[in-house]
Amino acid sequence: MCGIVGYVGFRNATDVLMEGLKRLEYRGYDSAGVAVKVGGRLEVLKKAGKLSVLGDVLKDEKLPGHFGIGHTRWATHGAPNDPNAHPHTTEDGRIAVIHNGIIENYLPLKEGLLARGHHFTSETDSEVLAHLIEEKYDALPGSPGRLVEAVRQVLQEVYGAYALVVAHQDHEEIVVARTVSPLVIGLGEGENFVASDVPALLPYTRRVIFLHDGDMAVVSRAGVEVTDLRGNPVEREVVEVDWSLEAAEKGGHPHYMLKEIYEQPRVLENTLGGRLHEEHANVELDLNLDPARYDRIHVIACGTAYYAGWVGKYLIESLARIPVEIDVASEYRYRDPVVDERTLAVAISQSGETIDTLEALREAKRKGAGTLGVINAKGSSITREVDDTLYIHAGPEIGVASTKAYMAMLGAMAMLAVWLGRARGTLAEADAKEFLGELRKLPRLVEQALEQRAHVAHIAEKYHQAADYLFLGRHIQAPTAYEGALKLKEISYIHAEAYPAGEMKHGPIALIDERLPVVVLTTDSPFYEKTLSNIQEVRARGGRVIAVATEGDLEARRFAQDVIYVPRTHHLLAPVVSVVPLQLLAYETAVLLGRDVDQPRNLAKSVTVE
Ligand code: G6P
Repeated sequence: MCGIVGYVGFRNATDVLMEGLKRLEYRGYDSAGVAVKVGGRLEVLKKAGKLSVLGDVLKDEKLPGHFGIGHTRWATHGAPNDPNAHPHTTEDGRIAVIHNGIIENYLPLKEGLLARGHHFTSETDSEVLAHLIEEKYDALPGSPGRLVEAVRQVLQEVYGAYALVVAHQDHEEIVVARTVSPLVIGLGEGENFVASDVPALLPYTRRVIFLHDGDMAVVSRAGVEVTDLRGNPVEREVVEVDWSLEAAEKGGHPHYMLKEIYEQPRVLENTLGGRLHEEHANVELDLNLDPARYDRIHVIACGTAYYAGWVGKYLIESLARIPVEIDVASEYRYRDPVVDERTLAVAISQSGETIDTLEALREAKRKGAGTLGVINAKGSSITREVDDTLYIHAGPEIGVASTKAYMAMLGAMAMLAVWLGRARGTLAEADAKEFLGELRKLPRLVEQALEQRAHVAHIAEKYHQAADYLFLGRHIQAPTAYEGALKLKEISYIHAEAYPAGEMKHGPIALIDERLPVVVLTTDSPFYEKTLSNIQEVRARGGRVIAVATEGDLEARRFAQDVIYVPRTHHLLAPVVSVVPLQLLAYETAVLLGRDVDQPRNLAKSVTVE
């Protein structure tokens, strides 16, 4: 999640870059940088901190030029400091590179470059690209297509996700390429633009080309040529965007929440990216904590993060066989929990600022626990107080009802479970490999789950006048039921209750009548049959069942009035795909009821009061 801007034309490039970056700052704000061609050379300025820090430096050090690239960063590899900020350059400064995404095989590539005498100034995966392009460029004969050919050759050697933007002091053109991470080209008269998102372009043009996965382009003053990664020309439609600036910041979606729901495949890609190593049957989490020290885990969190922790409990107990207790943070603090130095307290938080979570963590620490944060916001309070942090890399989340951060938390907890399971010897090599393979497929499966939106909207239409909703799920899908109910009540204000499916008969069954929609998570699992009997119990009492089932499950159709199919995955990962239709159900219901989706009444994004 970073912001990218590129410009080639007749205006002051620094002004265009800074104006564009300002509009993309919501994509990341831990450092920023520009490279502008001044007098035949690329001048680079980059600074840790918000864009305004770079802006202040630029007030004194004007960079007059008509060709340049700029970036605002949300750190993944490497701390948010000056050297790790983009653009990255070659040692002689001829080539500058900006990269959003993760180059998964950067380590072996970097080792090769070091052995060939290259020097690195950052810890990023992105810097590798600058050096690789330099090598290829120097080996090619001089010709106008030399830079794009060098980039093309490098892209044959790297794998991972990227939106890549490359500038060379001797070519007044910007070479760009994308796989997974978005890039859009803005078309002007005698000038052209590049950006990771439309808002950056709107002050200058509304005619844009959205690049597709596997596209490259050469953007010069005179025009734009789009090709595939092998250099074959491809035709891309020129789209006239008629979004307001506000709509553009939402990626054309009417609400941030919907934008964030749709971002989830990419977010998950970011969370998992570069960390899954099937070849070693393990994950690389960059954690210093010693798994042998702990024999129990206490997960503390609030709201949506708490449900992610609950999913984490099942994952960790299944794969690593460590007892896990979960607590809402506001309860944990005051229940005098039994904690010793063999307890690992795991605080999960999007903002890293939730006061209850922070205080609960302090309580665990006081009692001698080791501490780990599973956090989105870099440098937030919790990250400063824990022994170690596992970042979830969801990017800035703006909708008050959390969606993409939840998805990223689930990805992070699954990786943590694998890591603990491997370290403790409870997860066999073959099982780890299989599980990692399933994890790797998840972004694509989440993409497929999103395709159910129209069907979910139809179901929302059917039931949006209901006064109450019930959500049921068993085992690792119990937290999914709770998260589905939470989403619905948060933004639609419909009363929604969740229960572990098997517990329904001990109370909530009394509520069931023909007016009560009951959402049942009945995806494939060893407990599938049991949940199916719960559906029958609801039907026998006239309830309206909306089943969330695994694709191909025709049985669910026999018992439920409505079925939402989600893609098949490992049953411990079913919460990841199943929460998507529940987020959409809440969203569509809230819209039908005319609610303020992004700022629901009484709620706050980050709760820093007790
Ligand atoms: C608030 C938000 C929720 C969020 C919870 C925990 O209640 O409205 O969406 O899940 O805080 O926030 P955290 O930043 O700690 O994950």
